[in-house]
Amino acid sequence: MTLVIDNISELVTNDPALGDGPLGVVTKASVVIDGDTVVAVGPAGAVADDRLDTGGRCVLPGFVDSHTHLVFAGDRAEEFTRRMAGEPYDGGGIRVTTEATRTAGRAALRSALDQRLAEVHRAGTTTVEVKTGYGLSVDSEAELASLAAEATPEATFLGAHLLPSEYQRRADEYVELVCGPMLDAVRSDVRWIDVFCETGAFDADQSRAVLTAGRAAGLGLRLHANQLGHGPGVQLGVEMGCASVDHCTYLSDDDIEALAASETVATFLPATDFSTRQPYPDARRAIDAGVRVAMASNCNPGSSYTTSLSFCIAMAVRDMGMTIDEAIAAVTTGGAAALGRSDVGRVMADGPAHLTILDAPSRHHLAYRPGVPLIWRTLGADYRLPPAGH
Ligand code: NIG
Repeated sequence: MTLVIDNISELVTNDPALGDGPLGVVTKASVVIDGDTVVAVGPAGAVADDRLDTGGRCVLPGFVDSHTHLVFAGDRAEEFTRRMAGEPYDGGGIRVTTEATRTAGRAALRSALDQRLAEVHRAGTTTVEVKTGYGLSVDSEAELASLAAEATPEATFLGAHLLPSEYQRRADEYVELVCGPMLDAVRSDVRWIDVFCETGAFDADQSRAVLTAGRAAGLGLRLHANQLGHGPGVQLGVEMGCASVDHCTYLSDDDIEALAASETVATFLPATDFSTRQPYPDARRAIDAGVRVAMASNCNPGSSYTTSLSFCIAMAVRDMGMTIDEAIAAVTTGGAAALGRSDVGRVMADGPAHLTILDAPSRHHLAYRPGVPLIWRTLGADYRLPPAGH
């Protein structure tokens, strides 16, 4: 059964050979899909077995959210409220979520994850990365890794998220645990390894040790870097050949130079800067220097409890010096590059039928109408779509 998605006012393909500009925008378009695959991209009026008339709406590739922490229990609304009243964010609340997550039980964690995946889909996202990092013991991290792996092919081991309370002042012992028994326990479930490289979390040597162990175990590398201040994270990420260094709120000239000369993607997480009252990263400076950039939600209960990449796009255009087209690229091809993928983030024949249809005639509305639920339909996904009702 083929389906034509027709009467599209503006189709973003991300293929300059198919349409205008770097986003390859086609006006008055249609997309024909056969099950999970795009079979044709062309002018409106294509013929197929079935037809979805978008009524002159804008269609984009499904968003690629390359940084989330979706497996956890509890929330930290009170911490957020205290922060809005002036308390600084330091990441210490990770232990609060760890306590709740360790005692929640698998069924409750899975159900909470399903609700969040449903929200992710409603937000227009069709590829999502999911990290562990709220278990911080061998058994609990193994459980989170298996839950993440059941949900998405993009599962990440973040045992080095923060020192758990029982390892205070024994950081080197904890790093050995992460690099040894914990990594062994999660290895078969995850594609990536990540570390929170920041003052108060893990320093450059500890982070290097974890990334080195992950690489030896065959995992791809990613890093939380330069979130709360300047530090060694970005340079370390480049040195280690990380696919992506994430946050990048504080970038020195040397950091930008190193990123621009590398294949490592800088992934901005502006909803975090919003929710922690940090400055927004200067994306313009990075893009102008030739850095490859992505943007992700960083959905987590502490620093960024949102799944909305539309919200991120609006912030990027308003406060980070990005054009609307750069912001859209950052959550499609940018997110794909941060995950080392070239099969998602585009609309192309033989590619996956992952589409986001806006309840708006043009992509500009993503920044022009902030806070409005603009996602009309999300088609396809490469993560587990939860049962109806979530
Ligand atoms: O990416 N920075 C470290 N990890 C998360 C925050 C986690 C939390 O506060 O619970 C982040 O912002």
